[in-house]
Amino acid sequence: MVSLNVNGQAREIEADLDTPLLYVLRDELDLHGAKYGCGLGQCGACTVMVGGEAVFSCVTPLVAVAGKQVTTVEGLGTIEAPGPMQAAFIAEQAAQCGYCIPGMMMRAQALLQLDPNVSDEAIRAHMEPTLCRCGTHMRILAAIRRAADAMRGAAAAGATNARAG
Ligand code: FES
Ligand code: FES
Repeated sequence: MVSLNVNGQAREIEADLDTPLLYVLRDELDLHGAKYGCGLGQCGACTVMVGGEAVFSCVTPLVAVAGKQVTTVEGLGTIEAPGPMQAAFIAEQAAQCGYCIPGMMMRAQALLQLDPNVSDEAIRAHMEPTLCRCGTHMRILAAIRRAADAMRGAAAAGATNARAG
């Protein structure tokens, strides 16, 4: 039995310790946002966040996330109330087939959570491991820039409120 926290909820998983996190998310927890692409850590379709870092869940064994905080694309918001990253991808119409998009969002979220003031060059370098076969890279970059603007705005509003309060 392995205990972990997924999208803010404590979960107990009965599975072999070597089971890839991707299979646990999709098959045990019914979270189908993270996608199976290559299964080899080479495409990024399966990317989720573990403790704030983007990881390939297809090559991350269950035992490696014991006691940790896992965030999937489902944890960024809902259809009714999309989070800033999801809203930015929708606004920029960044998806063509959509298969790479959850992984793109999670990799970008890990970067912007750390620093929403990140440079364009740093965004491009950070996003390199996640592939898009449809070639919507320019829209994806635009979505990440839009999400960064929103996250900077939210941070500034939070600081203003804290000073006022
Ligand atoms: S499915 Fe995990 S990196 Fe390709
Ligand atoms: S939108 Fe199809 S793979 Fe990226």
